[in-house]
Amino acid sequence: MKKNYIWLLLLLLVTAGCQQAAGEEETKELTLAHNQPTDHPVHLSLTRFAELVDEKSDGELVIDVYPNGELGSEREVIENTQFGTVDIAKVSASALEGFDPIYSIFSLPYMFESQESFKQIMANEEITDEIYLNTTDIGFRGLTYYDAGVRNMYTKDRIIESAEDMAGLKTRVQPSRTSVQMIEAIGGTPTPMSYGEVYTALQSGVIDAAENNETALVNSSHGEVAKNYFFTEHAIVPDMLIMNDEMYSDLTEEEQQVIEEAAEESTEYHEELWAEMVEESVTIAEEEMDVTFYDIDKQTFIDAVQPLHEQFQENPDTADIYSRIKEES
Ligand code: GCU
Repeated sequence: MKKNYIWLLLLLLVTAGCQQAAGEEETKELTLAHNQPTDHPVHLSLTRFAELVDEKSDGELVIDVYPNGELGSEREVIENTQFGTVDIAKVSASALEGFDPIYSIFSLPYMFESQESFKQIMANEEITDEIYLNTTDIGFRGLTYYDAGVRNMYTKDRIIESAEDMAGLKTRVQPSRTSVQMIEAIGGTPTPMSYGEVYTALQSGVIDAAENNETALVNSSHGEVAKNYFFTEHAIVPDMLIMNDEMYSDLTEEEQQVIEEAAEESTEYHEELWAEMVEESVTIAEEEMDVTFYDIDKQTFIDAVQPLHEQFQENPDTADIYSRIKEES
């Protein structure tokens, strides 16, 4: 009897050992949600991110990418990333404004003088760390950003030559307070809504105009309905890669390193891809969708939004980041 007992104990120990060994090799699967179609440069860069994570972790970390807003609107996936039902999400910095006012700096029109100065700021780790780590207490952290170009106005019918021509124009903006204030400041009527609703809203006349980078015309087919695109160049709003903070903290140091490196390298990969695909979008929109591109004098727009800059300088939530970016630009 005693002998049998010892055998049983030995068997249990061996089984536990095997389970642990199997456990060590177990893969960790992480979900990544975003709202762009699979031919969009951001999707390609996120796929690259997943590949890099796979390579660098020898298949131990697996990222499952869910495109097309399959896991919800940007607002919903940010909430789900906070609670950990989504592990990683790619969302516009404008969508993050409702969760942490530090992100509103990106929606402030004419905050950055040029794309070069924007990139210089995003390469400054002191500034980006301040932003990325500011949300750990509300459940997520920033990992990196992806260039989302420059945002411009586009309309179904109206031709815009100056800010006065925006009067009363029903313009879709991202669900961000600063974006709403921007359209109000230039005289339009802001209509915040999530990205997935914009095409139908333009088509049905719920809105007359929207604002985004050039890829929206082609990848999201907005150019089928909006035929006039104006280079107002009013905002440089990056896409952000965010991760549930508890999930990040539960990873080993090596795994965290893998995620960080893959994030950074995918941002570099995205850089070249982005420039090419913006150019390609303009050609397709012009040649196949009959969209006309207009260069316009931006000064009336810049003047109209000056009160917003004053507001940012005075608001304690944004004053510090505003002056840091201005000093470093
Ligand atoms: C950009 C951005 C998206 C965002 C969209 C919008 O395309 O990459 O993340 O949803 O703008 O205007 O809502």
